[in-house]
Amino acid sequence: MTTKITKAVIPAAGLGTRFLPATKAMPKEMLPVVDKPAIQYVVEEAVAAGLTDVLMITGRNKNALENHFDRMTELEDLLEKKGDQDRLAKVRFATGLADVHYVRQGDPLGLGHAVLRAKMHIGHEPFAVLLGDDIIDDRDVLLSKMLTEQGKRNATIIALMEVEPEAIHLYGCAAVETTDDPDVVKVTGLVEKPSAADAPSNLAIIGRYVLRPEIFEVLQNTKPGKGNEIQLTDALQVMAVNPQFTGGVYGVIFRGRRYDTGDRLDYIKAIVQLAVDRPDLGPDLRVWLQEFAATLD
Ligand code: G1P
Repeated sequence: MTTKITKAVIPAAGLGTRFLPATKAMPKEMLPVVDKPAIQYVVEEAVAAGLTDVLMITGRNKNALENHFDRMTELEDLLEKKGDQDRLAKVRFATGLADVHYVRQGDPLGLGHAVLRAKMHIGHEPFAVLLGDDIIDDRDVLLSKMLTEQGKRNATIIALMEVEPEAIHLYGCAAVETTDDPDVVKVTGLVEKPSAADAPSNLAIIGRYVLRPEIFEVLQNTKPGKGNEIQLTDALQVMAVNPQFTGGVYGVIFRGRRYDTGDRLDYIKAIVQLAVDRPDLGPDLRVWLQEFAATLD
C-alpha cells in the first residue's frame, strides 16, 4: 500500500543577493513574474498535482510571503464595494490555494539543512520539495509524473533535464542507467555542481524532488559539502547507493518548458516567454518585440 502524497516543502530562506537592491527588504520569491509573485506559480503547481499542504522554509525578511498567502480584508472590502470582481478574485485566489505553514530555517546552512527543518511537519511519509527559482510551465507535465513514479517504485524521485555541458557546473548532476520507460532513469550516483570535465552526464537536477522520509536520517548525518553547505544532492547520493534501505533514487527526465527565475538574465527571459503566451498581453507584446528586435544591431 502506498500513501497518497499531500505535503510539499518549499525552501524560501535564500537571501536573494543576485537581485540586490530589489531584495534588500523583500524576499526574492515575491519578485513578480509578469503579474504574479514567482512563489505563487510554484504553489499553484503543487496544488495542481494534488499537494494541498505546503510548508515554506523561510528566514528573516519573509513577512511579505506570509501576507501574500493570507487574507487582506481592507483591500478585499474595497474591491467588493467597487464591484471589481476580477481583481477581487485575483487577490483571494492565493489565500484559498493551499494550507500554507511556515518554519524558519535559522542558520543558512544549505538546501539540505532547509529540507531537514521540515522533519517535524512531514513525519514518516513521502513528500515533495519544490525549489522556488524554477518555474515549470503548467502546460507541461512533471510533478504528477514524479508522484506516480514514487507510488509505483516506492523510491525517491528527482527531476532531471538535459543541459549543455558548459552549464552543468550550475546544477547537481546524475549518473544514470536506463529503465523500460524512456522518461525514467535509475540514478546510480549524484554529484553537486561538478566541472564539465568531472560531470558523469549532462543530466542536471532541476528543482523538483519527491523524497522518502528516510532522507531526514541521511541529512542528519550529512556533512557540509560544496560551498561548505549541507547539500541535498549529497544526501540523495547516499539514498542512491543504499537502495536496500531507501528504495533507491530514480529520475524523471523533463523535456518541457522550464523558466529559471534565480538568475537576472533568465528572470527577464522568463517574464518575456510567459507574457508572449498570455492572451491579455501576448498579442501586443509580440508586435512590439519584433519591432524592438529589428532596432537592435
Ligand atoms: C540547487 C541544488 C542543485 C540543483 C539546483 C536546481 O542549487 O543544490 O543540485 O541542480 O538547485 O535549480 P542552487 O540553484 O540552489 O544553487
